[in-house]
Amino acid sequence: MPIEKLITKLDDREKYWRRIQGKTIGVVGYGNQGRSQALNMRDSGLNVVIGNPDDGYRKLAQEEGFKVFEISEAAKMSDIIFMLIPDEVQPEVFSKHITDNLKEGSTVVFASGYNYYYDLIPIPNFVDVLMIAPRMIGFGVRELYLKGKGFPALIAVGRDYTGEASEKLLALTDAVGALRPGGVAISSSFREETLLDLLSEHTWAGAMLYMFRAYYEVATELGASPEATILELYASGELAEIAESMKEQGLFKQLKNHSHTSQYGQLTRGPLVVNNGVKQLIKKIALEILDGTFAKEWTLEQQSGLVHYKSLHKISLEHPMERKEEELYRLLGRAIR
Ligand code: NAI
Repeated sequence: MPIEKLITKLDDREKYWRRIQGKTIGVVGYGNQGRSQALNMRDSGLNVVIGNPDDGYRKLAQEEGFKVFEISEAAKMSDIIFMLIPDEVQPEVFSKHITDNLKEGSTVVFASGYNYYYDLIPIPNFVDVLMIAPRMIGFGVRELYLKGKGFPALIAVGRDYTGEASEKLLALTDAVGALRPGGVAISSSFREETLLDLLSEHTWAGAMLYMFRAYYEVATELGASPEATILELYASGELAEIAESMKEQGLFKQLKNHSHTSQYGQLTRGPLVVNNGVKQLIKKIALEILDGTFAKEWTLEQQSGLVHYKSLHKISLEHPMERKEEELYRLLGRAIR
């Protein structure tokens, strides 16, 4: 069944829900997404059990009224399994605890495209594979549900073994709360989700951190105080306000909230920084996501004990700006880790 590109509500809800009603949903993991999605699905009327190792998350799930089992047990008793543990531990957990407990015709649901797109989890060919990837942190997924609101999610069928995968996908998207008012499901693919997710992380998100560092170095070299610089960049909260305006009004339409001098400066100097060379670099980074170059590098890094990753973290915290930030945050009474 082809899925429309943008779905904001299910017209014939019954048609889709009959695919999941009476089924046991096993949510593996009770962290950011696991807790929120499990609570939402339970409140939507589904029978949800949790699979989790013996840790604080398991305890929380029990306190919140769920039956919690070892992951292999949960997989055995479930018809639909949500993989809501960190992406990097999923391949091992899946092959050790889930693969041998899958029934023919059951369903595996991912919240990100990564492992399936890169073929890092061999999934038996007799199950359906779905993706419901919220464009929302776990906390928001629950908060919005409690307010009767939806959230954006990229959804996809990876494999349709039963011929019912699309109907199950839409019903489950509804059950986790994405299709409540204000929410939207975008018919996507594991490839698209992986590309968009990683490309954000590899370009503007990472670049912003290092751009702010470079700005700090230049501004303080030119006599600006560290405190004023850090407040200007992000500590004042203005940045969060601008992000909120982008969400509500639009990327460029929010410019009108700024002074004319600011608008002129942004429109003339912005393109000097993000020039054609930068666009070529974004393309190169995107292609290295799609062809698996980054994923291979990250897998190797994990296998070799995260040496480079840890050293990058360490170096990033040795910058003089970190100490100045701590002093400022202490003065402002903010949490310091
Ligand atoms: P998380 O880091 O909050 O997961 C914690 C849970 O995983 C706990 O229940 C913990 O017991 C379990 N866990 C951790 N290590 C384990 C191991 N070795 N074996 C078994 N269980 C283990 O995970 P999060 O952030 O909720 O991510 C889950 C999925 O959702 C991922 O695929 C992620 O890409 C996706 N996602 C996450 C978003 C977020 O808001 N964090 C947003 C959208 C998608």
